[in-house]
Amino acid sequence: MKKEIKIKPFWYSDIWLFPKLITVITSMDAEGRLNAAPYSHIMQYDVMHKKPRMMVGFRQDSHTFQNICATGEFVINCPSADYLPDVMETARFYPEGINELEHTRFTTIPSRKVKPPSLAECPQIAECTVDEIVNLEKSSGIVFANIVAIVVDEKIADMDRGQRIQAMNLPVGLGDEDRVEYFYGIMDNVVHHTLKEAPEGYQAAKLKTALEWDEPAMVALMKVPAMVRNMVMTQTEKHARSQGATRVTATHMRELAEEFGMDEAVLSRFGRKADG
Ligand SMILES: Cc1cc2nc3c(=O)[nH]c(=O)nc-3n(C[C@H](O)[C@H](O)[C@H](O)COP(=O)(O)O)c2cc1C
Repeated sequence: MKKEIKIKPFWYSDIWLFPKLITVITSMDAEGRLNAAPYSHIMQYDVMHKKPRMMVGFRQDSHTFQNICATGEFVINCPSADYLPDVMETARFYPEGINELEHTRFTTIPSRKVKPPSLAECPQIAECTVDEIVNLEKSSGIVFANIVAIVVDEKIADMDRGQRIQAMNLPVGLGDEDRVEYFYGIMDNVVHHTLKEAPEGYQAAKLKTALEWDEPAMVALMKVPAMVRNMVMTQTEKHARSQGATRVTATHMRELAEEFGMDEAVLSRFGRKADG
């Protein structure tokens, strides 16, 4: 049996369970005074590398949002679960101009590309500038942010995902009750699944090319992982057409791979190598 729930303000937190990333955003006001507060209304927006962007949602009267509107810069710091008490300390309603970090174990380090400092204790950091701000009427302020630098602890940079998950120990935000009781998940039981590919015949049958492909190009296309093969095919044909070609060659594929930053290292993450 199911029941429809009345949608009330703060539905996203009160009734709908949204496991989320926990971050501490550092920003500065126009006078250069530092501010820090936790934020988890955050997700990737442009996933490609040319203009990588995040989307972050704020209460419009929060100091962080006002600082971002005033200066156009901020830093997203991801703390480990060991720092949850400090994260909560920065969430308290201190008056404007108070540096919440003074009440925590967090220490600041200079950021690479923006003025607000980063938090040394956070293993994963994104330095951001404003691309666009949308003030939703009587609701959140949404910041579409350019990621100008991603900075991680040296020791985790080359780890595989499984090791990195353990080493970073990022808490998962599980919402709150009445803006006072906050709930978190801790990474002590991570489940790992391997995605199985669909049968090869089925994948090939689904592929409908609009242009002619020469053999090296087709061989290279078949080496692209099945889940992105259709998209790569469409994009490559679009790219070939933009050059006035009626036949797709391996050069078109290579040019497109370069444009999208799909080098050998990125492609090998999908389990197969680029070719041609
Ligand atoms: C874990 C956690 C996540 C939060 N996420 C958000 C959020 O995404 N957006 C928001 O407006 N407030 C969020 N808050 C509430 C703000 O952190 C809180 O209102 C804070 O006092 C704002 O500080 P500021 O005015 O210095 O920016 C969150 C609080 C906690 C504890």
